[in-house]
Amino acid sequence: MTRTATRFWFGYLVFWLLLGIGIGAVFFSWFPYGIYFAVPMILFGAIGVIPTILAFIWMTVPRGRHRRIAMVAYLVLLALIWHAPAAYRAWNEEPGNDGPYIYWSDDPRHTITIAWTTASPHSSRVQIEHTGGELRSIEGGQEPGRFHRVVVDGLAPDTAYRYRVPALGTTFYPFRTAPEEDVDFAFAAYGDNRPWSGITMHRRVVDAMLRYEPEDGYRFILNTGDIVENPDEGYGWQWRLLLRQIQPLAATRPYMIAVGNHEVRRTTDYFVRYFDYGGDQFWYGFDYAGVHFMILSTEHDLTPGSEQYEWMRANLEAHAEDARFVIASFHRPLMTYDPRDRYDEPERLETLLPVFQEYGVDLVLAGHVHAYERHLIDGLHHVITGGGGVLLWFVPETGPKTVATETRYHFCVIHVREDVMELVARRIDGTVIDRFEIPRRDAAPALGR
Ligand SMILES: [Fe+2]
Repeated sequence: MTRTATRFWFGYLVFWLLLGIGIGAVFFSWFPYGIYFAVPMILFGAIGVIPTILAFIWMTVPRGRHRRIAMVAYLVLLALIWHAPAAYRAWNEEPGNDGPYIYWSDDPRHTITIAWTTASPHSSRVQIEHTGGELRSIEGGQEPGRFHRVVVDGLAPDTAYRYRVPALGTTFYPFRTAPEEDVDFAFAAYGDNRPWSGITMHRRVVDAMLRYEPEDGYRFILNTGDIVENPDEGYGWQWRLLLRQIQPLAATRPYMIAVGNHEVRRTTDYFVRYFDYGGDQFWYGFDYAGVHFMILSTEHDLTPGSEQYEWMRANLEAHAEDARFVIASFHRPLMTYDPRDRYDEPERLETLLPVFQEYGVDLVLAGHVHAYERHLIDGLHHVITGGGGVLLWFVPETGPKTVATETRYHFCVIHVREDVMELVARRIDGTVIDRFEIPRRDAAPALGR
């Protein structure tokens, strides 16, 4: 190849790369995360590389059989790379041997729900024992299938158990039932981990949650929704990806979800195959060591008089007064200063805030905005934790009620202590975005709280 030709093809490649870098820079200034820079750069770079390599083969390999073989081999390699994601998706479309994962669909002191999937139909059988106790086998009762769920009841409070799923192997997974007393504990909250076009940082967030787990562990995990991009036919691989990614957390810590808009796209049939939280499935409540959790669905009617609205009032009426703290969680926030104003939050704020104030809700954990945000709304602490793995989006606008905001992958750890609750929001390198305390409402004023 002559020097001129080399210069020409090198220049050709550099042109595409510079174009990619230029477009990447524009995106990067718009969105605050490196992926927006990298995607155009790689895309345009690749567009330049493909014809450049073809031309290089053409010019360096002598005419004849070898040149033809080299060019065909290169094109086959490109086709394989191009089809790899589609092949992965097709391969993982059907349920496989994934899980187990646990959650509560009944009283956390006395029950646990164990779930998993299998590639071929099996009966649903788990084995469970507490330390020193005898191993008992429990059948799920349903017909042999590929989606499995066994609700184990009759458990003793604050007791260490371990279980295994024979269909998946011999590994035992430990878990602990909820205590009767108001002990100190911690749990983790995060959300918006859905893969976007197959790209996800979710596993890195999960790894960080495990790395920075408090000494006595997370007693459970709360996900504020948007766990898959598409929930329905043709997207089974996203559910498998989810189960694989949450498994290190969810095999041993109950995994509770506030349903997001992506889980209800077109159908909710798929969500309920994997998670059934009891009650109405999409809105439910549970108590853990004197703290009441109320999970709502912003994807179903919440207007006054609706079924869910009436359930919410009744749930708070029954549980809020005796609870040392009340936490409400749902996907779409009560407020954000995003100028696009597409989250219907003014209506939600108007409907829910008076009810939350009436019953003394201490903290709201929401998602939907791909960032961390904290607002103080007339005394109500309102946190958006939407940095669980989906591509980060705009930097949210701030306003008079904003206390903190950062567009970064993160998770929240909530420490519940005798008369104070502390929330720590961490980036995935463990550094702290935000940290604040909420005192117990009925704590004695004489103690200065
Ligand atoms: Fe969302």
